Order: sequence, then structure tokens, then C-alpha cells
Amino acid sequence: MLEDQEPTGAPNDLESLWLPFTPNRQFKTNPRIVVSAKGMHYRSHDGRDILDSSAGLWCANLGHCHPKVVEAVQKGVATLDFAPTFQFGHSKVFELASRVAAEMPDDLNRVFFTNPGSEAVDTALKIALAYHPARGEGQRTRLIGRERAYHGVGFGGISVGGMVANRRTYGPMLPGVDHIRHTLDLEHNAFTRGQPEWGAHLADDLERLCLLHDPSTIAAVIVEPVAGSVGVYPPPKGYLERLREICTKHGMLLIFDEVITAWGRLGYASAAERMGITPDLMTMAKGLTSAHVPMGAVVVRDSIYETFMKGPEHVIELFHGYTYSGHPVAAAAGVASLDTYREEGIFERVRALEPHFEDALHACRDLPGVKDIRNFGLMGAIEMEPWPGQPGKRGFESMIACYERGLMTRIAMDTFEFSPPLIAERAHLDQIFEIVSEVIRDKASPS
Ligand SMILES: Cc1ncc(COP(=O)(O)O)c(C=O)c1O
Repeated sequence: MLEDQEPTGAPNDLESLWLPFTPNRQFKTNPRIVVSAKGMHYRSHDGRDILDSSAGLWCANLGHCHPKVVEAVQKGVATLDFAPTFQFGHSKVFELASRVAAEMPDDLNRVFFTNPGSEAVDTALKIALAYHPARGEGQRTRLIGRERAYHGVGFGGISVGGMVANRRTYGPMLPGVDHIRHTLDLEHNAFTRGQPEWGAHLADDLERLCLLHDPSTIAAVIVEPVAGSVGVYPPPKGYLERLREICTKHGMLLIFDEVITAWGRLGYASAAERMGITPDLMTMAKGLTSAHVPMGAVVVRDSIYETFMKGPEHVIELFHGYTYSGHPVAAAAGVASLDTYREEGIFERVRALEPHFEDALHACRDLPGVKDIRNFGLMGAIEMEPWPGQPGKRGFESMIACYERGLMTRIAMDTFEFSPPLIAERAHLDQIFEIVSEVIRDKASPS
């Protein structure tokens, strides 16, 4: 698979690097290092092909080192390494913004660029907060998130996020934030294929918070349309529709955090398109450049943008931006990625592959200690019973065992999360679940 790529050797000093979201001491005793990648595979430092079951971190949607994106990046960096987007501009960033807008539903037409998804989330929250005073409702300062949500690691994102470990050591975070309940309830929706039938009423938890805080104090509600990092929770049927209704009724902005779901993961340009529900703001990242260069964005309705376009014309309308908002090389990667999604029919491909993915995933149901299986689009999860008294250990050891067998997997505690590159063939999916099944059996109890 990677015969044209020679290993370039492993680093000889592991000590300096502090790895993110990694048990560093364990890693350094048994490092898992890759040196190159192409398509569906990485090449490990010890010369093995490693199949990618998670598109990196839900991001390498077109597979690794896609020739068209690589070429655009190489050409882009050689043409324009950098240009500011504060008070100036460059052609690629405008091109990408119009291309993104053209793929978004309804009047989601205005695009603000960031780098990672976490910045997209913080940017969306800031736009939402700044929007209300700009239209004379400055009392709307509260933000509502959801339990178990992942919205990145900025202070805004962890405040509205609901994953305990990401929050507990970072102080009080943003004030005025509250959370609705999450949608997983294994008594009612275990082993659902796609969207659960049960659970639309859980959206009414937002009405509870409206009663508690008064909706006129709430600026925005943010949710992942499909919760990803917590272990793939597809929204119950009717749930997002209900959230949309409640937000509209009370004048609260609805933000879809589509950092994972935008650009093909669900077989469409966005979850909003697949579900037929238009949020007021949408975040995206990852698939926007198919991970070749970091880039994120917030897309907002025309009316939100226009609300800011007031006052003297020489005065900045939104005091916000990053040095690298709309970096030319990232923008080149973005345009090439969006071209490729269309040219290669990637979204249609995902829709065609989804039933096979679902079947292969749910075939793991009777393996020892499998507690639940969930899927939507090319997102899937297998939740395993933890080893007694050792939450997370089974998942961690299973991830290592997969890597030893040539498969890179993503885990959240004792849950496998799958999000293969969207170029996957059926045979890749079969191989993924063959290895995973073996490992689930092997790791049924502590060795
Ligand atoms: C829904 C969601 N929002 C935000 C983020 C943060 O993105 P990043 O890691 O690029 O900052 C992620 C990352 O996985 C995500 O899944």
C-alpha cells in the first residue's frame, strides 16, 4: 500500500514533547509513531502498514495525502505563504468562503475563518453574544450547552461542553452557562441503527432551562447534531427539530457544532442538510481541508452578518479574529478539498457505504461485553463493559492491541469510535471490524 514511501526513521528523543490527550509516561515506554501516510493507511516507524479507522481524528475525510490537495498546498505555499486578513485580503480566502456558502443550506452564507475547531466554537459563541446587543437585546448573555458534549478545549468550548474530565480542573469557566441533558439512555435506545425512535421529548429539557432562567436571558444553544467524541450519540428522531422550534419560539440562536459532521461524514455537506434543519450558526473544521492544513470556520445566516454591518463604515464591526484566519495555504487546501468531494462523488459514496458500515458494526453485537452499538453516516461506536473497577482500561488496552495488529482506532474510555476516511472500500471496513472483533474477544477480561 505504501511501497513508494520509505520510513524516515523514528525520533531519537521522546522526552521533550508533551503529547495532548495522551498518557505521556505510558506512551514513552511503548511509543506508537507513524512516519508517513497515504490513502487509508499510515506507515509506522517500524515499517508496518496501519489501517486508519478514524480518519486521523475524524478529519482526514479524503484519506491521507490526497494528491489533489497536496498539489494545491504545495502550489499555494510557493505562491503566497501568508497575507493578513485584517484590513487586507487574498483571492483564495474569498474563493473558499463563496464555495463554502454555496454548499450550506438556506441563508447560511457568511463565513468567518479560524484554525482549529475549538476556535470555531469560541468564535460562534462570541458572535452569538455580540449579536444580541447589536440588535438591542443586550440582556441575552446566557449560553446553553448539553451534558457530555464536546466543543473543543477553548474556555468557551469547555464551558458549554459537558465532558467532565475536560472541565473539572479548569476553574469556574464562563459564567451564565447551563446544560440540557444528553440523549443516551440504554434502557430505551440501546443497539439502535441510525437515529433512535425514542427521545425526541428530551429536547423539552431546553424548555425547563427557559423556565428557570427566562428565555429572554439566553443568547444561544449549542449542540453537536450527532455527538461525536463522547462516543457517537445520534440524535433521536424529531429531537433536533424540536430544539429548532424552541429556539425559534424564544428568539435564541441555535448553533450546530459541525466540526466532525460537516463535509461528508453523514453523506452530505453538513448534518443540517441531511436533517433538513437550518441552525443560525454552524461551526466546521477538520473535513474543510481534509486535515491537510488546519482550518475551521463559522458560517452564519445573512441576517446575523447584516446586523453587525451598521455604524460608521471605517469602524471594525466585530473585534475578533486570528492571525491565521483564512491562511492562504489552508484556503488552497480547502478549495481543493471541496472540489474533490464533488469530483469524486464522496458524499454519494458515503450514502452508499452507510448500510454496509452499519451491518459490519452491528455484527459485533454478540461479542463478549458489548454494551451498545450506535451509528449514523460513517460514524459508529461500540461501547464495551469496563473491566471491573478499572474504567477505561479495557478500551485503552484494546486500542493498543489493535495497533499491534495494524489498525489505528480511537477510543473514549471503554468505547471504540469509528469514523473511517470517506474513501474507504467495503474491504477496509471488513478488515477494521475483523480486527476489532478479535480484540474485543481477547480483551474481554484483564490479562
Ligand atoms: C464537535 C467538535 N467541536 C470542536 C472540536 C474541536 O476541534 P479542534 O480539536 O480542531 O480544536 C471537536 C474536535 O473533535 C469536535 O468534535
